[in-house]
Amino acid sequence: MRSLKPLAVLLLGSLSAYPAADAKHVMIPATSFDSQSNFDADWDYNYPWGTDHNGAARMSKSQVSMSGGTLTITAKKVSGEKPATHGGKQIPIKYLSGAISAKEHFNVSRGGGYDFSGEFRATTTRGTWPAFWLTAVKGWPPEVDMAEWKGSGKISFNTFNTSSQVKAKDVNYPSPGDFHSIRCELRDQNGKDLAIKFFMDDKLIDTQYGRGFVGQPMYLIINLQMEGSSGSPGPNEDTVYQARKLEVWSYNP
Ligand SMILES: *[C@@H]1O[C@H](CO)[C@@H](O)[C@H](O)[C@H]1NC(C)=O
Ligand SMILES: *[C@@H]1O[C@H](CO)[C@@H](O)[C@H](O)[C@H]1NC(C)=O
Repeated sequence: MRSLKPLAVLLLGSLSAYPAADAKHVMIPATSFDSQSNFDADWDYNYPWGTDHNGAARMSKSQVSMSGGTLTITAKKVSGEKPATHGGKQIPIKYLSGAISAKEHFNVSRGGGYDFSGEFRATTTRGTWPAFWLTAVKGWPPEVDMAEWKGSGKISFNTFNTSSQVKAKDVNYPSPGDFHSIRCELRDQNGKDLAIKFFMDDKLIDTQYGRGFVGQPMYLIINLQMEGSSGSPGPNEDTVYQARKLEVWSYNP
């Protein structure tokens, strides 16, 4: 054992120098859904702004569970909830569902970037609207929909420069009963704009560009909204959305 010591010190020394040179470090490790204490280190329940947003579901901690490293969000039909208010309009609440948001904010710095990845099992039933996305902490945009499913049988990948200047890529979503890997690579392109690469099952699906997204902090959200952009009526039976092996790596210098 004793003779190994100098070697161990040498190895540790060179290993710890490597990430600094590569400017790569983990922000959310793949183990964040392994236990409640791991979860609590990286995530909060609900949206960063509360329980309601732009659809027929109100978010509740009761609808989020973890088992064997998999996060499960269940939307269930309810009645008697007061309506949500969004953009000056009232939206009837017909479901209780779940959302989680990362405690950290993600702000691409000059020469930097992030990789967001995970495996998702998402429903494509009409009226179900699961999503894995980034949105602005201050004002809006940036918004990057790293994956969303709008009840059509497709998966959508979107970047918003403004509410009308949107690059949206919809592709067929195979076997929704299975887990599919999603990866989104964000990189500073020119000191102002982001280049965003969207992968499904390790295949590049689209490259989009976000104007002025460098230096803008973003929230990371995983949620199961209902109706809204995914149509109505939504299902009467429970809907499940699952995520596992969720990881975030930073390439910020
Ligand atoms: C985001 O990063 C930029 C520099 O890249 C910095 O000026 C700004 O303060 C950061 N914003 C937040 C909220 O951390
Ligand atoms: C958003 O802005 C970027 C950077 O200016 C540009 O390359 C991209 O085409 C714009 N997207 C849309 C949909 O106009």
